[in-house]
Amino acid sequence: MMTRAPLSMSLNSRWLSLLVLLVGLAMATFAQATETDTQTKAKQLWQLLDYLAVDYGGAVRDGKVISASEYAEMQEFALTAQRQLDELPASAAQGSLQQRAAQLRAAVAAKAEAVAIAQLAHGLADDVQKAYPFVMAPAVLPDLQRGAVLYQQQCSACHGAGGHADGPSAAALQPPPTDLTDRERAAQRTPFALHQIITNGVEGTAMSSFAALPEADRWALAFFVGTLAYSDADKAAGAKRWQPGSPARQAIVDLAALTQSSQQSLAQRLGDADVARELTAYLRANPAQVEAAPQERTAIARTRLEQSVEAVRTGDRAAARKLALSAYLDGFEPVEPALAARDHALFEKIEAGMMAYRAHVQSGSLEQVQASAQQLLALLEPG
Ligand code: HEC
Repeated sequence: MMTRAPLSMSLNSRWLSLLVLLVGLAMATFAQATETDTQTKAKQLWQLLDYLAVDYGGAVRDGKVISASEYAEMQEFALTAQRQLDELPASAAQGSLQQRAAQLRAAVAAKAEAVAIAQLAHGLADDVQKAYPFVMAPAVLPDLQRGAVLYQQQCSACHGAGGHADGPSAAALQPPPTDLTDRERAAQRTPFALHQIITNGVEGTAMSSFAALPEADRWALAFFVGTLAYSDADKAAGAKRWQPGSPARQAIVDLAALTQSSQQSLAQRLGDADVARELTAYLRANPAQVEAAPQERTAIARTRLEQSVEAVRTGDRAAARKLALSAYLDGFEPVEPALAARDHALFEKIEAGMMAYRAHVQSGSLEQVQASAQQLLALLEPG
């Protein structure tokens, strides 16, 4: 039942409270808008640096310019990256980021090797993301089948049905559409980078922005496009590699990690180019597979909690605190985004439970520690 406002509340005070509410709303919207604006700028800078990293090899080889126009573009991009960095709000990291942007520009000017430029540009891009965080992962699992359908509808006219840049509109385009099956190029791209290109387009080319498509569709396209350079044999071999306990499981712990992995970065981490190619092929085509990892994570969280309770029982609270923190950081935190997306209520309960548990380890009785651990373990029950 709605209660009537008391008559004593004058019209003026109601207007006043409405005004306060509106000002509050406007301020909240403004705060959100400025945050999003920074994130948009940081993302664009990230995309620019990624583009530079991938395209520079087409401009310079062995210290010599092989395409004057490409090289001019690379120089322009390096300068633009510096300018865009200046436009980001001041932060503790900005000084060192600016220094490295200057280094990158100098390296481009000196016609450095492509590998060195890619390292500088990708390293800088990742640190921009750290200093000005923006989300790099899909909120829901990308639907590859939908990606395939959308690709045929929206992209194949230029990029070709199989991605070979041979669609009916391709011949008329300058620059031509990218061959999405080019292995060397594809190896350098992360699904996040593909998502950014699809979202923003590439200025000065026929590649327009597909920002009008829903976010989930753009992720579906990014993952689908990210499979075009890989064979079915690669995918099948990758499935065999993706076994519980394999090192690959530590390299790609969740959907966010998959979204930010290129074949090349994975090869560096695993020290095996074939494994990296096969896993990239398999996991991009079957992103649900990285979601299977949460069970392993939850097992870690459970074990650490049990060990932590045991440490409290033996009177070692310092060890218990470390184990409680590890239960959270190593067990729960990596799967947080996926869980939050799937079951937000459960996610909040576990997070609150972890906090309560740490507080009890700090200053509660053994009984309180045991009781809150029991509650948490019940929430972490598989299934
Ligand atoms: C009208 C033609 C056209 C259409 C339609 C089109 N593209 Fe493109 N696309 C291009 C061109 C041209 C380029 C090359 C841009 C350049 O030179 O950097 C490109 C580049 C790309 C790249 C960059 C690849 C790389 O490695 O740099 C991706 C990814 C891409 N397109 C994906 C898509 C997707 C996904 C769609 C459909 C949603 C799509 N494109 C639709 C013309 C098109």
